[in-house]
Amino acid sequence: MRAELGRVHINGRIVIGEGERDEAPMLYVGEEVGAGDGPDVDIAVDPLEGTTLCAKNQQDAICVLAMAERGGLLNAPDVYMTKIAIGAHYPEGTVDLDRSAVENVRSLAAAKGVPYTEVTACVLDRPRHAALIEELRVAAIPVKLIGDGDIAGIIHATNTEESGIDIYLGSGGAPEGVLAAAALRCVGGQMQGRLILDTPEKRERAERMGITDPNRKYSVNDLASGDVLFAATGVTDGSLLSGVRLKKNAVITSTVVMRSWSRTVRWITAQHAR
Ligand code: FBP
Repeated sequence: MRAELGRVHINGRIVIGEGERDEAPMLYVGEEVGAGDGPDVDIAVDPLEGTTLCAKNQQDAICVLAMAERGGLLNAPDVYMTKIAIGAHYPEGTVDLDRSAVENVRSLAAAKGVPYTEVTACVLDRPRHAALIEELRVAAIPVKLIGDGDIAGIIHATNTEESGIDIYLGSGGAPEGVLAAAALRCVGGQMQGRLILDTPEKRERAERMGITDPNRKYSVNDLASGDVLFAATGVTDGSLLSGVRLKKNAVITSTVVMRSWSRTVRWITAQHAR
């Protein structure tokens, strides 16, 4: 990819964006972006992941983008996805969406060599997760509830030493699932996701987007394949990134950029004149 005078030399196509063409003036699904004369790439964006977090100035509102070779990102409908994610360095199959939450935590604890009551699960604080949270608490498994932002929640599960989170469990947006998978392709980690297509309308919408098996269990590679780039910029302060800082003559931003092919993780602090 080349960039000169603001022109990015890609032949880009938005596959996850700000809604369909008629609903969003830009970054809509299907929009072509870039100068058109570079590599064919697919792009997923979530310009503000954690809208409520931002409105309340709470931790981990981020601006997110993933880019992959054409066809590399699942064209996910805007429905819920059940997700499970853990960090790298565990045997393949340590966790599985088809097991109970406690079974997964026990299996992860065994792989980690700690009592299962020392494995912390991160879950979105939602009424739909009441049974899941109850199951974990009854088993005396520590639960970290987050108000929003499961992309950051999943990334935290891959960075246990810093975050204290070992496993991400529960359902959130499917587009966010694809973006989180793109990050995991770069930093390592296991994840599975399954779309929640619980009405005929959702199943039809998914089918129109090329999803033929509504019960498919997606792995990280099914969600984001080939060479993948992931970038996130902090909007509010968080454990992952600092938020936007307004200074008298400049705006300071903090960004992480990762690439799957090289497994490079770059941290960029940028000063923008104002
Ligand atoms: P928005 O920034 O679009 O509000 O998304 C925040 C978020 O918490 C996501 O991280 C998560 O995947 C999704 O919402 C969960 O949806 P819901 O709020 O409906 O439970």
